[in-house]
Amino acid sequence: MKIPYVDLSYKKKHRKNLMKIFDNVLSKGQFVGGEEIIKFEKNISDLCKTKYAIALNSGTDALTLGLILLGVKKGDEVITPPNSFIASTAVIAHLGATPVFADVLEDQNIDPKEVEKKITNKTKVIMPVHLSGRMSKMSEIIKIAKNYKIKVIEDAAQSIGSKLYNKMSGSYGDVGCFSAHPLKNLGAIGDSGYMVTNNLEIYNKAKSLSNHGMEKRNIIKNFGYVSRMDNIQAAFLNYKLKNLKSIILKRRKNVEIYKKKLDRNSVFFIDERKEEFNTYHTFVVQVEKRDKLRKFLLKKNISTSIHYPVPIHLQPASSKYGYKKGDFKNTEEQAKKILTLPINENLNRKHIEYICKSINMFYK
Ligand SMILES: Cc1ncc(COP(=O)(O)O)c(C=O)c1O
Repeated sequence: MKIPYVDLSYKKKHRKNLMKIFDNVLSKGQFVGGEEIIKFEKNISDLCKTKYAIALNSGTDALTLGLILLGVKKGDEVITPPNSFIASTAVIAHLGATPVFADVLEDQNIDPKEVEKKITNKTKVIMPVHLSGRMSKMSEIIKIAKNYKIKVIEDAAQSIGSKLYNKMSGSYGDVGCFSAHPLKNLGAIGDSGYMVTNNLEIYNKAKSLSNHGMEKRNIIKNFGYVSRMDNIQAAFLNYKLKNLKSIILKRRKNVEIYKKKLDRNSVFFIDERKEEFNTYHTFVVQVEKRDKLRKFLLKKNISTSIHYPVPIHLQPASSKYGYKKGDFKNTEEQAKKILTLPINENLNRKHIEYICKSINMFYK
């Protein structure tokens, strides 16, 4: 049995349906802006239960525009975890602001107590990251933000559809930013992303800023960017949105099999808490002898991944911020142990059982 870590191929039925959708977009000749974008924004604001959604070209630009609209400028500080995808920190650095890292909990998400310790009079924004599709402790983070009058941007890139206390990912903060990179549960056929907010001013400015700063065709109050989503990506995502529920359900079912079959004496992972609804963009376990296990699994034709092997504060690009090894104990310990197991929706019970059997065999 060969188990790829990801499988982004589309079944024939979907390919046929998508060809019709592309044909429709091509026949209308709407490529930049268009009715699919309008539909997509409505679909996303409905799903996230926010007033507004803005279709963008990537999760990275969603975060950049979000930070700009929350007023982040040179010299400001933004608190974020050191164990995310590099883009979470890169967007802060690009604005000339300083990423201030706060360590994570055993579930790999930012620790609200650590966040509070890092607040200074330069702190402008807190950016929790909902890693793997599990939401950060948003109630505590929002409380802290309100106390100190700081804004919150959710890096919800990995968590479309996730909930905490029945409130949707992206809807807790001032701005919620999502990626629709092909690897995400709601993935496009190339780069795409989107932003949600309940703030009309942020919505209007994000629409304009993502489109050269245009408010009307020839009126530019502020120079902008080109961060719009293509109409063809929106058409594709509107189609894919119809399957999102079943994709999430399948991934959750796969996790249930892992839960039953993995030997929990050797494999650590946190169960879903009663207030959470996790969408499992990834399924990450923490294990001893991780690299040996990974090689062993590869010999059994099971490919795995690591998210992320080098914490951001230890990346060469972060050297100017003066962090060093040992600064974030949990993040660094986890970086040695984390392993992302295959969970994609094209895998069935047989595949997951084979993975579990192989892992259990390794530790015996
Ligand atoms: C946590 C996190 N933040 C930001 C991003 C950036 O999103 P994109 O690749 O769409 O620019 C990603 C995407 O991989 C991500 O996983």
